[in-house]
Order: sequence, then C-alpha cells, then structure tokens
Amino acid sequence: MNKNFLVQEIIRLKREKNAVILAHYYQDQDIQEIADFIGDSLELSKKAQTTDASIIVFAGVHFMAETAKILNPDKKVLLPDWEAGCSLADGCHPKDFKVFKNQHPDHIVITYINCSAEIKAMSDLVCTSANAKKIIDSIPLDQKIIFAPDENLGNYLQRETKRELVLWKGSCVVHEAFSLDKLIEIYNNNPSAKIAAHPESESHILKVAHYIGSTSGIINFIKTDPTNVFIVATEAGILHELSKAVPDKMLIPAPSTEDNTCACSECAFMKMNTLEKLYLCLKNESPEMTVSKELRTKALKPIKRMLELS
Ligand code: 13P
Ligand code: SF4
Repeated sequence: MNKNFLVQEIIRLKREKNAVILAHYYQDQDIQEIADFIGDSLELSKKAQTTDASIIVFAGVHFMAETAKILNPDKKVLLPDWEAGCSLADGCHPKDFKVFKNQHPDHIVITYINCSAEIKAMSDLVCTSANAKKIIDSIPLDQKIIFAPDENLGNYLQRETKRELVLWKGSCVVHEAFSLDKLIEIYNNNPSAKIAAHPESESHILKVAHYIGSTSGIINFIKTDPTNVFIVATEAGILHELSKAVPDKMLIPAPSTEDNTCACSECAFMKMNTLEKLYLCLKNESPEMTVSKELRTKALKPIKRMLELS
C-alpha cells in the first residue's frame, strides 16, 4: 500500500476513533514519525496510565501492549502484529518460573517489565531499565531478592547495588549479540568517541561503556554530553530519534557478532510492526489485547508499586 495513503488513513482513523499511538524507540522510523508519543518502557507505561483516548495502539511488543491493557482494562488496546514477542518474555515460562520461585521461598520477586502478565502476577515488584536500581534500593538490605528474566541486567544491578540477586537465566537476543572485538576496533578508529550501552548488554560490553542506561537515558546522555562521536550499543531504531535530536553528532551503531552484512542490530520482534499493519489494526480494531480479570488483578499490583516508586 502507498505510504502517503497509509499515513493519511492512520491520521483520519485516529481522529475518528479517538485513538492514541504509543511507540517504542525501536520501532521502524515511519511508525515513530506517526506516533503521538515515543518513549522507553517506563515512559510508555506512564503514558498508557494517563491517556484519555478510547483506543491505545501499542507500536511495540506483546508484553508492552499487555501492560497497557492491565493499566487500562476499559480501553481497547491494539498491537499491530500479534507475533511481536520478546526473547526475554518468551524465555520465562510461568510453569518453570513457579518452580524457580518455590526453590527460593524466602525471596521477594522483582521482575523486569519484559515478561508476561503471568510472570508479573507472581512478582512483588516490576521494574524497567530506567528505574531498576531505584526499585532494588528501596528494598531492605536483609531482604533476599529474585531478579528475572534478564540475567545481563541482573548482573549489572548486582554490581550497581552491591547486592546479591538470585538470577533467572534469560537474555535479549539483540543485546547479547554485540561484538566486543568489533566495538573495540571501531573505538580505536574513533578514539574521541563515547560508548553508550543498554544494560541488557553483556558485562564485557558494559565494562567498556562510558554510559549505561535505558533507551531514554541513552538519548539524554548523547544530547547533553559535549562529545561529538558516540557508539550506540542498543537496538538500531533508537538512531532515528537520536539523529533528529543531535543532527550534528556522529552516531555509530555497535556491531553484532554474527551479522557481517548489516552494521547494526535490529530486534526482529519490534520490526514485525509496519505502517500497513498499524493501519489495518486501527481500521479493523484487531488484534486486540485481552487479559482476564483474575490475571489482571494479580499483575497490576507489582506494576502499580513500580509506578508509585518511580
Ligand atoms: P527501555 O526502552 O525501557 O530501555 O527497554 C529496552 C527494551 O529492550 C525494550 O524491549
Ligand atoms: Fe525483547 Fe530484546 Fe527485542 Fe527488547 S530488543 S523487545 S528485550 S528481544
């Protein structure tokens, strides 16, 4: 379908249906351009909590739309592609997690927002990469903690908070794929560059980073730091917002290990959403996210606790 037609129709349908489009920074640039709000996971959750639109189109992945539905049971929440999952959420099955949790009965459970509603329902607190340290710091020192599902983020938090966490062994397929050798090669060719990395990256990448933070944190760092060259170790979709925010700075996407043809790392799940699928989901009001009342009630508690703390 023609791009102009899609853009015009999405704008028309949005007005007609009182819909809002929330998009993550990893979305395709056409989607970011048409979104009403772009943000990191925490900002998008907050936006989903406060919007007065009747329909939320969540241009992101499944767990994000699910979180928006948990926060807005009376609103219609749409996801352009139902198959847009996440390796972290998909790698933490409720049955296995229940067994894991039962092995540590004296621990409270803090989960990264990148997990299913069933996992959130088994949690005491949810966090995002933007507030994870603050959430852990809010827990008394003598309280033992399980952190799931991202082991890399968990390891980073152990170092940052100087606390021992029992970690679930999950990972993000995008952030675990960055090549340290290639990163160092780029850095050696650009010695004035600063490296900004997402904490879902492996510890050897984080060790050489000048800044570690959420997608919004990385954007703020690059906007405010006087350096002119940055190597960005997170999903490549973030470069769209960055190139608009800092057009005069040089942005180099961190390369991944496997990929010899493309210079950067893309999340295949995030990129399942397209402008055409966005148009069709708004037109047909499908696929629609649903969460049972029982599950919603349980999953809402740790999300609300997070929002109160952040
Ligand atoms: P943030 O935008 O919260 O940093 O999360 C990154 C991510 O991988 C989302 O899936
Ligand atoms: Fe999940 Fe990684 Fe994709 Fe984020 S980038 S949605 S953590 S697979």
